Amino acid sequence: MSEINRVSWEDFIRDFQWKQGEHVAAIAPTGAGKTTLFKNLLPYRGYNIFFGTKPDDKLYHQILRNGYVRHESFDDIKSYENNILLWVKQRKTISETIDAQREAFRNALNQIVIQKGWTVWIDEAKYLSQMLGLKEELTYCVEQLRSIDSTVICGAQRPAFLPPSVLAGSTHVFLWKTTDRRDQEKLSDIGGIDATIVRNEAKSLGKHEFIYIKSRGTTSKLVISQTPK
Ligand SMILES: Nc1ncnc2c1ncn2[C@@H]1O[C@H](COP(=O)(O)OP(=O)(O)O)[C@@H](O)[C@H]1O
Ligand SMILES: [Mg+2]
Repeated sequence: MSEINRVSWEDFIRDFQWKQGEHVAAIAPTGAGKTTLFKNLLPYRGYNIFFGTKPDDKLYHQILRNGYVRHESFDDIKSYENNILLWVKQRKTISETIDAQREAFRNALNQIVIQKGWTVWIDEAKYLSQMLGLKEELTYCVEQLRSIDSTVICGAQRPAFLPPSVLAGSTHVFLWKTTDRRDQEKLSDIGGIDATIVRNEAKSLGKHEFIYIKSRGTTSKLVISQTPK
């Protein structure tokens, strides 16, 4: 059984230990703080490639101001670049945009598996796996990339929105409040931690609080969040 330590947001971010090749999964209802967490964790990694799936997003503009470079296609990337936003332009129709995104992300994932050391940020994994039909690619990347020191970070609103191996294959798992019984049940899949504790804690979190679980170990931290900068 694991002890739950309560730490502040600032202390957590400062002390977070994360090695290249260790995947991350974050599960939070909309508005809880997934993107905010990702934004705060971006500087921990290099060779970041952020998959821009939305038509527009405050975060994209923020990271572009902070040195990220926008690319339409992974083919435009000539050598390793530290901070990339892969974000295709909107096409005339939704289905053309979806086709362009599918092509751009599939191509990127296919090249990332034959290179080493990338960090792939996927804010909405459900969109990639269900809307764009890239579930197989995503699953493959989570299962195979660790061995080439590449990292995958996936966010989702509910555990069922992630391909099963994403939760199982992530070293660092972040869970926000959930009152959904099926979601609480799903959380029992996370190894190393007593399922009852995870379920009970997940019910009683405050809106911006999360449980952090490091797999393959026994560490479990409950973070009491304060407003991040
Ligand atoms: N730890 C936190 N403490 C206080 N406010 C937070 C925290 N995390 C996120 N927020 C606020 O909640 C809102 C939604 O956060 P966001 O990261 O966009 O959520 P998500 O990506 O899960 O939908 C933002 O306005 C953000 O500033
Ligand atoms: Mg978000």
